[in-house]
Amino acid sequence: MSPFSPGQLGPLSLPNRVIKAATFEGMTPGGMPSAQLIEHHRAIAAGGTALTTVAYCAVARDGLTFADQMVMGPEIVPALRQLTDAVHKEGGAAALQLGHAGYFASPAVAGTRPLGASAKFCLYTLTRPRVASLDDLQRLTADFVRAARLAVEEAGFDAVELHLGHGYLLSQFLSPYTNRRRDSYGGSLQNRLRFPLEVCRGVKQALAEKAAVLAKVNLQDGFQAGLGIAEATEVAQQLEQAGIDALVLSGGFVSKTPFYMLRGELPVAEMARNEKKAFRRMGLRLFGRLMVPQHPFEAMFFLPDSRQIRKAVRLPLVLLGGIRSLAHMQQARQEGFNFISLGRPLIHDPDLIKKMKAGEIQSSPCEPCNKCVSEMESGGIRCTHPQLGTASNQLPPSNAT
Ligand SMILES: Cc1cc2nc3c(=O)[nH]c(=O)nc-3n(C[C@H](O)[C@H](O)[C@H](O)COP(=O)(O)O)c2cc1C
Repeated sequence: MSPFSPGQLGPLSLPNRVIKAATFEGMTPGGMPSAQLIEHHRAIAAGGTALTTVAYCAVARDGLTFADQMVMGPEIVPALRQLTDAVHKEGGAAALQLGHAGYFASPAVAGTRPLGASAKFCLYTLTRPRVASLDDLQRLTADFVRAARLAVEEAGFDAVELHLGHGYLLSQFLSPYTNRRRDSYGGSLQNRLRFPLEVCRGVKQALAEKAAVLAKVNLQDGFQAGLGIAEATEVAQQLEQAGIDALVLSGGFVSKTPFYMLRGELPVAEMARNEKKAFRRMGLRLFGRLMVPQHPFEAMFFLPDSRQIRKAVRLPLVLLGGIRSLAHMQQARQEGFNFISLGRPLIHDPDLIKKMKAGEIQSSPCEPCNKCVSEMESGGIRCTHPQLGTASNQLPPSNAT
């Protein structure tokens, strides 16, 4: 089965099965989409990827983790419209990842105490969150719906990806580690699912058939007390019933296991160099490898858990994580995965898919050095591996809109 055959994602017809994974680009200075961001996604569409995902966009100010991150609102719509126009001109489609950081939002950036499913102390921000009230949950659902409508109806996105993974707010509700509530939004999995399902149903209903709605979910949080694959399977079944168009299968929890979703090397020196907070910078220099758990890289590292989800649901699934070659992509298709998502290989080379289709290369030379991760806060993601950078992604960053 070919990764290059046309595919259907809800109401969206795509020319092939390849999706650019959400990778916070760090190209939104002051929260504004820059010319550099537009060019980044235009190049990925021109390079043959069917759907490119713009990330990360908070649905409200209190969901921000960095100062230079987007919050969905009318101010950023014209620049986002330029981005979707540029992608469409190249024959591609664009998705916007929408989320809320919940208890690991930055208090300094958000200007308020972070909101959490419960009062679990956050080791990442070193704060105890304010427990979200029922009014907060109603407001947040409305924020997700409003952001999705703006993205699709005004900014021209073809899809939205709701962030239910990586320990973001909706994932904090799903996870038994962060959700210790005693009301109808906590306790049993059915209760922990209640708020994420309200958000998903609300967005799906608001967008109807105007755009595809994907949900990025965790297969596992990646630590003992977190969500495991058995509960993740039930989450997938419930999201299917809620009418979600496709699931993007991932894992990890930013505040506990940030490299579970990436695997490979910890770029400790680069992370420390780019860290703006002095205490975290010093901590990283001194204890980097102890502070951040390591997870070795393997090709197709989410495949074993993803197979369990494939057996349990019928909706389209997006396989992600360590997919590096045409053979991996073909295997994913043969095993029943409808789409293939690539992150770091497309940061390394936006033309990868065009080159694979033309038979010029069989696999990406991307190595899991993760140096691109530390570039998020240093002028925008690009490949800085000394032997690997390509001409197209090593342009000096320029943040002019
Ligand atoms: C620089 C960088 C930034 C990332 N930012 C996000 C993000 O904003 N949202 C998200 O869901 N995942 C994010 N990820 C995780 C990717 O979506 C993807 O899950 C991960 O890179 C594994 O896929 P890969 O092996 O193809 O790179 C990021 C990854 C990288 C490398």
